[in-house]
Amino acid sequence: MKLQDCRGHWALVTGASSGIGEEFCRRLAAQGIHLVLVARRTALLEKLATELRERHAIQTLVVPTDLAHPGSAQQLRAATAAAGLRIRILINNAARGPWGSFEKTSAETYEELVQLIAGTPIALCRLYLDDLASFGPSLIVNLSSPAALQPVPYKAVYSAAKTCLHNFSLALHGEWRDKGILVQTLLPGPTATELDAKGGAYKSELGEERRPPSEVVDESLAKLESDDPFVTTNKGTYKQRLFAGIAPTRMIIREVKKMFQAPPGR
Ligand SMILES: NC(=O)c1ccc[n+]([C@@H]2O[C@H](COP(=O)([O-])OP(=O)(O)OC[C@H]3O[C@@H](n4cnc5c(N)ncnc54)[C@H](OP(=O)(O)O)[C@@H]3O)[C@@H](O)[C@H]2O)c1
Repeated sequence: MKLQDCRGHWALVTGASSGIGEEFCRRLAAQGIHLVLVARRTALLEKLATELRERHAIQTLVVPTDLAHPGSAQQLRAATAAAGLRIRILINNAARGPWGSFEKTSAETYEELVQLIAGTPIALCRLYLDDLASFGPSLIVNLSSPAALQPVPYKAVYSAAKTCLHNFSLALHGEWRDKGILVQTLLPGPTATELDAKGGAYKSELGEERRPPSEVVDESLAKLESDDPFVTTNKGTYKQRLFAGIAPTRMIIREVKKMFQAPPGR
């Protein structure tokens, strides 16, 4: 898959209003790829769309959508079909990452979180199959997380939903490679975005070092031609996978719990 071959075609990016999603939009626009920008903060999406249209002479469609609602994937598909667009690149990036004890958050919020992180991206892959398969090579990028590789106490639902998306995405690579659709599972290490602050992150053993979103997107795009199913910018990923694969379950839970231990009242 070569990005240059996608000039003049359409990419759909969820979570385009900030962080890694915004960076994907900037990089794709610079290659002359038209953009469907999706998130909830319409003003940010419109501002970015205007800037990228003026700078790169691309076309844009802004579709403000709350992807935590069941049926939002179908609404998005209907919006791009009504505009007569065929999507060649699908970036499933939108997420929230709340920190803290399981019981501090409502059941309704958890249902929405699972929908946002796993349900909607899975539905979008299915709904855009006809579009994607109608091109020679086409691309899906699903955003995984280090939290997908083992259970994470105090981020229990986030990590469970990311595990779902992670394994789905790797499995889909196996099913769809022969259709000419590259499904990349992208696992960023700690990245300097709004995610943790909005998720109520507290000081933890995780450390403060964060890489810029541009490095995550660099890594993703650099691996397109090698057709890699799994791309990570997290230096510790392979050690982490080894640990999760061979350590006793009790030890894994205990060690990860220490890293994310919530302070009293959180
Ligand atoms: N940052 C990290 O350290 C890190 C590490 C591993 C994985 N990741 C993954 O990377 C991806 C991008 O996150 P980020 O770090 O760039 O965070 P971010 O800056 O907070 O971006 C999250 C994006 O998701 C959108 N979003 C959140 N809830 C939404 C909803 N209900 N409906 C539609 N859009 C919604 C946000 O836009 P609106 O608020 O405008 O809706 C925003 O554009 C996520 O999948 C995250 O899990 C990040």
